[in-house]
Amino acid sequence: MLKANNIHFINDYRTVLNDDAAILDIRKDIQNGAVYIFKNMYDKEWILEVRKYLTDIGRNSLPNYHSIEAGAPNFHRLNRWDERAYVKGCFHQFVFFPWNQDIFNLFEVLKDGFYLKNAINGLPKNKFMGMVPEDGCIARLSFQFYPKGTGGLNKHSDPVDHHQLTVPLLIMSKKGEDFETGGVYVEGESDDQIFGDDLCDIGDVIFFNAQIPHGVEKIDEHKAADWLSFEGRWMMIFATNKVSGNTSVADSADLENK
Ligand SMILES: [Fe+2]
Repeated sequence: MLKANNIHFINDYRTVLNDDAAILDIRKDIQNGAVYIFKNMYDKEWILEVRKYLTDIGRNSLPNYHSIEAGAPNFHRLNRWDERAYVKGCFHQFVFFPWNQDIFNLFEVLKDGFYLKNAINGLPKNKFMGMVPEDGCIARLSFQFYPKGTGGLNKHSDPVDHHQLTVPLLIMSKKGEDFETGGVYVEGESDDQIFGDDLCDIGDVIFFNAQIPHGVEKIDEHKAADWLSFEGRWMMIFATNKVSGNTSVADSADLENK
């Protein structure tokens, strides 16, 4: 199985976004296991505002799950190591689809993350971001909050197919300030855990080959869980998901299955 090897930092993503040769190099690197960290892609103050807004919603409305299909509403839901999930995890998730309006104009503000993801995959920059699914897949913003004391996600690999090579992660919390231990990792070549949070600040985006084993090590395991405190770790996934019923793309694979 492919493991993460060298790590590259890019200080200004705009220098590569429209540079076909640079994008091709990044694609080859990621295919071979490189991790790319795009520094400071998004504004920290804006991210803190979004966190506050999602926290208010999470505290004050009922969580409910909706399946991924054309016209689906934005929603939030809880996952407490749900047996029905392809990858077992424990987090509070806030989901946004391109066809719904939202207060922060999230897809507009965050679109460069998808543009970069699509470019690295060799796809048109707007692919999957329209009002209806394309090729059985859609772009989706998945904010995830991992509460202290219990939040985590099993080691897993995600499908690499026509729709994606890499699943970029927007870092929204600062390790050492918002939480102390755990966080997102990719598995290195000596089966070590390379913690993205150790390498990133709020606003950075991590790109890696979705097939590399990765997960979220439990956040502040020594602390008592308190979902309503919203103390823990936030991130956001630039997801490209198959719609419900599309069997042509593989499911994510849990590598712990505990
Ligand atoms: Fe993943």
